[in-house]
Amino acid sequence: MKYIKLLKLFVVGLALLLTEAAFAQSKGPWVAPESANTIKNPFAGNADATKKGKKLYNQLCNICHGDQGKGDGMAGAALTPKPADLTSDKVQSQSDGAIYWKITNGRPPMASYKDVLKEEERWQLVNYIRTLKK
Ligand code: HEC
Repeated sequence: MKYIKLLKLFVVGLALLLTEAAFAQSKGPWVAPESANTIKNPFAGNADATKKGKKLYNQLCNICHGDQGKGDGMAGAALTPKPADLTSDKVQSQSDGAIYWKITNGRPPMASYKDVLKEEERWQLVNYIRTLKK
């Protein structure tokens, strides 16, 4: 009996810890896994891809990230956290692979674009984001 009680306590404690960890993760800085840095951009330097990325950006992303990518889009104002400033060093210093990974996986309130956009289209966006650098 005593053993069961202890076990229950342990399970409850563990659940609390896990919830807290998940919460902390959702609030802390958003960091792509190290492995993302090794994904090579198959469209690096491809001007046609960049042009397509611009079109996609203005259809799907500017509403939150703003026309110039400064994170000041209309739909972003009420969000927590705020949409990222894509022109900032914080974003621009990341590898193409890391940016691609973030577009692919998302993090609330930003959606995952894994099933919405083809791989190729996500890379086109990475290319376009590079042109937003200050
Ligand atoms: C609903 C609003 C919304 C839309 C639409 C949206 N984003 Fe985001 N985006 C966010 C928010 C909010 C964050 C910050 C998330 C965080 O830090 O947890 C973010 C973060 C990012 C980041 C990571 C920046 C960093 O700090 O490393 C990238 C890259 C990005 N968005 C690209 C895009 C692209 C490309 C699109 C269009 C396909 C897009 N976003 C559409 C809200 C949005």
